[in-house]
Amino acid sequence: SKRYTGLIEHYRARLPVSDTTRLISLGEGNTPLIRLENIPRLVGKDVEIFVKYEGLNPTGSFKDRGMTMAVTKAVEEGSRAIICASTGNTSAAAAAYAVRAGITAFVLIPDGKIAMGKLAQAMMYGAVIIQIRGNFDEGMRLVKEVADHAPVTIVNSINPFRIEGQKTAAFEIVDELGDAPDYHCLPVGNAGNITAYWKGYSEYAADGIAKKRPVMVGYQAAGSAPFVLGHMVDNPETVATAIRIGHPQSWDKAWTVQKESAGWFDKFSDADILAAQKMLSEHEGVFCEPASATSLAGALADLKSGKIPEGSRIVCTLTGNGLKDPDTAIGQCTAKPVTVDAQLDAVKAAILAGL
Ligand code: F0G
Repeated sequence: SKRYTGLIEHYRARLPVSDTTRLISLGEGNTPLIRLENIPRLVGKDVEIFVKYEGLNPTGSFKDRGMTMAVTKAVEEGSRAIICASTGNTSAAAAAYAVRAGITAFVLIPDGKIAMGKLAQAMMYGAVIIQIRGNFDEGMRLVKEVADHAPVTIVNSINPFRIEGQKTAAFEIVDELGDAPDYHCLPVGNAGNITAYWKGYSEYAADGIAKKRPVMVGYQAAGSAPFVLGHMVDNPETVATAIRIGHPQSWDKAWTVQKESAGWFDKFSDADILAAQKMLSEHEGVFCEPASATSLAGALADLKSGKIPEGSRIVCTLTGNGLKDPDTAIGQCTAKPVTVDAQLDAVKAAILAGL
């Protein structure tokens, strides 16, 4: 048996590396595709829903797929530093892969608007963290300006190697299911990931490994929904801070995906997003971060309306781990822990009360 050593090694022939490229990897990819057992029955639909649990990547999000590739290429090109703007997950991944490579990571994050787990990661991995009094979109603009004047490589998804790495998630799904699903649902912020999945599905279809390509459906938070509104949003807001983005970088690419796949965009309230996150945890034992649950919120809404027909096979990408944002998770749980004396009678009473 051969040890799994990350997605570049696994999909080497389909990625821009050579035999001499030094691979910067933490064993990312190869994430579980979990079939939902209880939720389809709960919503009364005869449908197959799989979740691609990207929260099990080394830094807890799909960003690791893009980052292994982007940092590998940055190092190959002689870069000594990388930079990104981030709502949190990209900064965590950039920081980790930079350490692995022995280079410096500069990360720009919106002050006070990233989940605690993500901040903890960037700090632990030793990134240079620059909190800006502004949002992600402003951070992105600054990163582009800085990179024009300094020897740093941008590792946001405008870096084409990010897309190359992230397309491997589509490969894994087809390798496992034997074909593409009918529908692929995912949360959309900058729209790098929807672009990457479409590239992966398209390459496999072109080579005959997949017989078809899925309909791509992108879901946004209502307060940060430029693709649904059809224009940029200046002051995006949502509890799903990962997708609190009003000026998506891959605007044109995402519209191409929508047209080529005959897909659509839709938006959901924070309440709907949190309800979907809770539902996944409570009924399937899968804990994702709020932004990730937008994909399931959307799939269930489109099943209800009939836009996605019964009998379909759906894959929802769960982009990040629920542990990334413990504050939001605890905040929405109504059943709080009970505290009792460390005595048998007290524990017995608590168990009886909970039966
Ligand atoms: N889900 C999560 C958990 C994310 O962190 C992101 C993006 C998305 C979905 C949206 O993906 O931008 O490719 O459409 N997070 C970026 C970051 C912006 O900085 O971590 P997208």
